[in-house]
Amino acid sequence: MNAEVAQLGARSVTARAYGKINVFLSVGPQRADGYHDLVSVFQTLDLAETITLSPAAETAVTLTGPRADTTVPLDDRNLAVQAVAALSEATETHIPVAITIDKQVPVAGGMGGGSADAAAALVAYAELIGCDDADLLTRIAAELGADVPFALTGGTAIGTGRGDELVPVAGSGAFHWVLATSVASLSTPEVYRTLDELRRETSTATDDTLRDPDDVVTALTAGDPHALAGVLHNDMTDAAIELLPGIAEVMESGRQAGALAALVSGSGPTVGFLVADPTHALDLTVLLEATRGVRDVVRTTAPAGGAHLVTG
Ligand code: C5P
Repeated sequence: MNAEVAQLGARSVTARAYGKINVFLSVGPQRADGYHDLVSVFQTLDLAETITLSPAAETAVTLTGPRADTTVPLDDRNLAVQAVAALSEATETHIPVAITIDKQVPVAGGMGGGSADAAAALVAYAELIGCDDADLLTRIAAELGADVPFALTGGTAIGTGRGDELVPVAGSGAFHWVLATSVASLSTPEVYRTLDELRRETSTATDDTLRDPDDVVTALTAGDPHALAGVLHNDMTDAAIELLPGIAEVMESGRQAGALAALVSGSGPTVGFLVADPTHALDLTVLLEATRGVRDVVRTTAPAGGAHLVTG
């Protein structure tokens, strides 16, 4: 054990961050850096990733919780590992940590679980080393991934640029969602590529003009699920269905079972169903659990908060 680790003793730090749903996602053309300009309205979901960092002889990752999944990398491809490495580099505090990730967010579902891991790891490592430079955390978050800054701030926000230039939205009330995860997974870059191809190939595909999120913001501000259901939007929908046609069937099943609206979550393949209240959520859960292609059904609410320390 090096001197810094010995000084910290056995102290461990826990932080939490949340998954997200994009209630509005308008994707523009691809930029020179490979990313796409977009306009997104995000809400965090009450599905937490809880990260505990404990000083150790070397960095290692352990997964626990209901959605611990063997496909999550445990090496330096893991976003929590990258977050610790980036903040350790920037602050020149090289303290190896054992990282425990308690997962509630479905893996590879377009719900920002990896980004939440990165955000929680940044907050936990900053606490461990006594760093209170919020601007540094925000800067590192944006370097780690387009969705990490939102996982850090949480709540409800409009994201522009790559999705990482955020303006908070004052939402009200809680929205009830039922999420149907898929037995299949989709790669985010591949969904973006497919969207570009569809736009090139077909004149019927949505064009790449960025749309205005005003109606969505109005519905969120009013806390009105019926109004929100009418204006949910995701430009990635056709591309996700092109790669995984079963998504369309899952969306249809949920609509027929009384969901107010169905929405592909981010780049998919998770489908989110907006429902009026917890009773409808329960009814829909039972039906979706019996639907082909659905792996797991999760009931949750939005918005949740941003990344924060967990004490005690
Ligand atoms: O930033 P992050 O690693 O989450 O993005 C994953 C991939 O998604 C990027 O490498 C890029 O292919 C695609 N992406 C994009 N435009 C965005 C966000 C992500 O093309 N605004």
